[in-house]
Amino acid sequence: MSSRKTLRLICGFAGGSAALLFTAAVAESRGYFAERPGEATGWWSAFGVLRAAQPAWTSVSPATSGNSWDFNWDKREPSALRKEKASDDPTLEADNGKAKATRNILLIRHSQYNLSGNGDKERSLTSLGREQAELTGERLAALGLKYDVLVHSSMTRATETAQIISKHLPGVELKSCDLLREGAPIEPVPLVTHWKPEAVQYHEDGARIEAAFRKYIHRADPKQKEDSYEIIVCHANVIRYFVCRALQFPPEGWLRMGLNNGSITWLTIRPSGRVALRTLGDSGFMPPDKLSRT
Ligand SMILES: *[C@@H]1O[C@H](CO)[C@@H](O)[C@H](O)[C@H]1NC(C)=O
Ligand SMILES: *[C@@H]1O[C@H](CO)[C@@H](O)[C@H](O)[C@H]1NC(C)=O
Repeated sequence: MSSRKTLRLICGFAGGSAALLFTAAVAESRGYFAERPGEATGWWSAFGVLRAAQPAWTSVSPATSGNSWDFNWDKREPSALRKEKASDDPTLEADNGKAKATRNILLIRHSQYNLSGNGDKERSLTSLGREQAELTGERLAALGLKYDVLVHSSMTRATETAQIISKHLPGVELKSCDLLREGAPIEPVPLVTHWKPEAVQYHEDGARIEAAFRKYIHRADPKQKEDSYEIIVCHANVIRYFVCRALQFPPEGWLRMGLNNGSITWLTIRPSGRVALRTLGDSGFMPPDKLSRT
């Protein structure tokens, strides 16, 4: 069998199997798939999923095919917790570990900023960006929800957006978080030509953005009594990755979605661990001349 056929065969099975990916990687490292120089990169690059070192969390969920749902995706499923704790604390009631409240997470993409600034500090909001942030703030206030916290990425554009929104939500605590900074969450499938971060960027940012996902996107703590509404002002890549992970869609698909500046993406997480996407990138509250898409 030619090496190319071998690779195709392995790719055909690779979807659900880390073991086969590993086999392919080993075979690759031993040169089993070597082709004539010059030809190799051409067909190898067609298999972005195999080529990149994909993080473990993308293949661990049984649900990534879309045919099932992993209720213990956030590791807070009481039945799973009970099993683990049974030996050290047999008196633990199942109900103790059960979430009672619903969490609503409103993910806001920062508004438009000066793309010609050098470095994060100079990339501050444009005047349109400041208007957009006012409109988003007005919208959030008009929704009349009892917001618990307003967290924002520590990057300039997200911080400025959050500060403007904050004026419309008096009394809501403002918190900055480095985990939410923009980055390269995972190599997108299909690959795009206009955006090609280095492997090291996926390696570093991917783990950080996954850490942000685990920190912010999970069902309520059992101690939480009332439904909560939390606002997170961050970035398009981070939000799109969160949406894929929260819905148990393949995270590599994040770049197939687009989000307008200042738009609202609303995730609801039920006590059962069910997740619903209420809105994705809603910017219908902005007049058309205030929208920006790039
Ligand atoms: C954008 O940033 C560049 C570089 O710092 C600066 O020269 C320019 O004046 C800025 N534009 C605006 C509208 O702030
Ligand atoms: C938002 O603004 C930034 C900077 O101006 C720009 O890069 C981005 O593409 C804009 N997003 C949309 C959806 O317009």
